[in-house]
Amino acid sequence: MTAPPDRPRVLLLCGGRSAEHEVSIASARSLLAETSERVAWEPRVIDRDGRWLDAAASLRRLAGDDATATGAPVDLEALTDVDAVFPLIHGPFGEDGRLQGLFEVLDVRYVGSGVLGSAVGMDKLVMKAVLGAAGLPQVAHEGVTRDAWRRAPDAVRARLDDLGWPVYVKPANLGSSIGIARAGDPTERDAALDAAFGFDRRAIVERAFPDKRELEVAVLGVDDPEASVVGEISFGSAFYDYATKYEVGRARLDVPADVPERVADACRALARRAFLAVDAAGLARVDLFWSPSRDELVVNEINTMPGFTATSMYPRLWAASGLAYPELAARLVALAFAER
Ligand SMILES: Nc1ncnc2c1ncn2[C@@H]1O[C@H](COP(=O)(O)OP(=O)(O)O)[C@@H](O)[C@H]1O
Ligand SMILES: [Mg+2]
Repeated sequence: MTAPPDRPRVLLLCGGRSAEHEVSIASARSLLAETSERVAWEPRVIDRDGRWLDAAASLRRLAGDDATATGAPVDLEALTDVDAVFPLIHGPFGEDGRLQGLFEVLDVRYVGSGVLGSAVGMDKLVMKAVLGAAGLPQVAHEGVTRDAWRRAPDAVRARLDDLGWPVYVKPANLGSSIGIARAGDPTERDAALDAAFGFDRRAIVERAFPDKRELEVAVLGVDDPEASVVGEISFGSAFYDYATKYEVGRARLDVPADVPERVADACRALARRAFLAVDAAGLARVDLFWSPSRDELVVNEINTMPGFTATSMYPRLWAASGLAYPELAARLVALAFAER
């Protein structure tokens, strides 16, 4: 591990093309407000169309002013002129390995997972294949391509009917619950598949996990990662959909979760295994479902670039584990200098 400089200059990339653009901006604001003594952030906002704002316009946007992007889709000079990059961008084009590939090509250090871990974590079908191969418990699921759905819908239906009801239908690559629907019968499922294929060529259909509590664990490190205390998300809506996630007051976060210690330990062990299975690095949040009545625990997904506002689950889990927000940010930056 190369020691990071005392107050490293770190390019803080935020915004981006996904639906989580605003979450990313909010996370960047928290970092700037709370950690600027330790890290010399150089924030750059990427627009919803993928264009990079220049340094001055980025500051204006972060201050809440309107600013429009000029120039190229990527500012290569900004990337190579710093000690490291923190790609605090969620979803496609930020969290899925594409940006990370650019960093590798340019040989710049960066916070978080590499190309492989990011890509595997983003794609629900490949993620579940990898987690399954590692022996991690998950809900039963099937993958469907748009092409198979168009060419041989009855064969697809026959395969999916075996999952039972209800099911969740999701585009393979998206996040933020966009394009996700819960279907209680074949008609609803077929409509949900049509909708999912409006977002992606591949979809996943999962058996619904009944009597569910949603638990989350924050993981930090590289080869021997640490797992935080367990948190719980609860809400009044049918599932954790887009509005519930991002409208203030709709979801409740309990940290630590009120679950038996043995369940919390099992969550932490699964979270570490999931992190290692997909080859994540730096940070990831692992989301699990637990049924109290059946005492069954499954991994739902891993997010390799979780929300990072001071009130987001990932930093809150670490704060409750004894690692305050500024220290957490400094640790993540230091991990960018670890051997990979
Ligand atoms: N198999 C399932 N059983 C029960 N609830 C589910 C299932 N899959 C998803 N959900 C609900 O939908 C939400 C979003 O699904 P998730 O797979 O986490 O997608 P995203 O990557 O968009 O967050 C979950 O937080 C949960 O509330
Ligand atoms: Mg989720």
